[in-house]
Amino acid sequence: MTADGHVGSAVSLRPLRLRDLDRVDQLEHELFGAGAWSRQAYESELAEPARSYVAAVDARDTLVGYAGVALGEDADVMTIGVVAGWRRLGVGARLLDALLDAARASRARRVFLEVRASDEGAQRLYERAGFRPIGIRRGYYQPGNADALVMRLDLAHARPVGAEATASTPTEEDL
Ligand SMILES: CC(C)(COP(=O)(O)OP(=O)(O)OC[C@H]1O[C@@H](n2cnc3c(N)ncnc32)[C@H](O)[C@@H]1OP(=O)(O)O)[C@@H](O)C(=O)NCCC(=O)NCCS
Repeated sequence: MTADGHVGSAVSLRPLRLRDLDRVDQLEHELFGAGAWSRQAYESELAEPARSYVAAVDARDTLVGYAGVALGEDADVMTIGVVAGWRRLGVGARLLDALLDAARASRARRVFLEVRASDEGAQRLYERAGFRPIGIRRGYYQPGNADALVMRLDLAHARPVGAEATASTPTEEDL
């Protein structure tokens, strides 16, 4: 871990692979409870060319987080999750940066996402990357009937939020 509390090189990013899915299956329940995606859903996502899924792994290649984006002119963040013991260390930010890089490389212009209206922490992460709220989807999360906040990022206004990026690119908050 670096002096600023970020994990830096202790965590690296690589593509999410089929062989990760046993661990993803376990983590989905820990991270998303009743909203967990099935293994079959992940198998189809990984087989879909218009997707980019990224794994965050520790020095032993153990999965500590993962994220995915649906590519297109309008890209969509499909999921992002970090294991509880690895949160607030910059892993989520690095995963998000990787999704935005993939979206940019696929010539996306905008990126959309849904986030629980009650999840201020995740919203803060997305706001730091430049996402802005554009609406509410009532009862989007089932079961539980929880509302989603829909957020949009114009990629021309995206800001890297990961530890390496913020070290070299100060944001308004840093100044
Ligand atoms: C949301 C989630 C992916 C964030 O991952 P993370 O690795 O903890 O995020 P980071 O450490 O990169 O956070 C970057 C910044 O986002 C903001 N942030 C992230 N989590 C936060 C929280 N719980 N409270 C307040 N701010 C938060 C902070 O600004 C943070 O920077 P800081 O730690 O220097 O203050 C993680 O909490 C998670 O997996 N949650 C459960 C699954 C989930 O709900 N996913 C979101 C679906 S939309």
